[in-house]
Amino acid sequence: MLMNFAEKTMMNNPLRTYLQKTYETDQFLSMGGLTKDEHILEVGCGRGVGVEIILEAFHAKQVDAFDLDPTMVKAAQKRLKKHAGKVNVQVGDVTNIQSPDNHYDSVFNFGIIHHVPDWRSAIKEVHRVLKPGGKFYAEEVFEKFIKHPLWRTLLKHPQHDRFNELQFKLALEENGFNVKRSNQLFGQFGWFIAVKQ
Ligand SMILES: C[S@@+](CC[C@H](N)C(=O)[O-])C[C@H]1O[C@@H](n2cnc3c(N)ncnc32)[C@H](O)[C@@H]1O
Repeated sequence: MLMNFAEKTMMNNPLRTYLQKTYETDQFLSMGGLTKDEHILEVGCGRGVGVEIILEAFHAKQVDAFDLDPTMVKAAQKRLKKHAGKVNVQVGDVTNIQSPDNHYDSVFNFGIIHHVPDWRSAIKEVHRVLKPGGKFYAEEVFEKFIKHPLWRTLLKHPQHDRFNELQFKLALEENGFNVKRSNQLFGQFGWFIAVKQ
């Protein structure tokens, strides 16, 4: 499900960029460590800040990224021009990833799986494209935030069958991941480091 105008405004601004490059990046680095010299995928890349983080803070050599929203893909391609040759950004769907099995060393998700009605099939696809032993860095937004009356009115998210930290962790494990670390903030946001068994 695509972001509405209110969410695009909340996500695509200098304050969110700052938070994503500091607090959110620190969560992934402290919980999961680096992914140096590897081939990485970012699912739902939005405006491309995640790709910059993967290149600059995680020292990836090559990053593929996609988003369901062609306008976000255009914004990301523009933003990432200076990294031409290291980055490939396209329109794509996390429930049907256009990559072979066992392809990536790591996959990053900066808060997109809660936008997917059939979110378990997104986890299944991420597992399929990761190499055995590959790491999934996942940041997610939980049911408590999505169903809060303010955010429910202002933003556009699927409302049926949402998840909390434990439910997301269980779904990762049911789909073949070993969850190494998880962490949450206010019961509304969470971070997970999961390894493909
Ligand atoms: C909350 S935004 C996060 C964007 C970006 N990761 C960030 O942190 O700024 C959610 C993104 O998921 C994308 N999205 C929603 N459903 C998707 C799907 N099935 N496959 C890929 N991207 C999807 C939306 O277009 C949107 O850009």
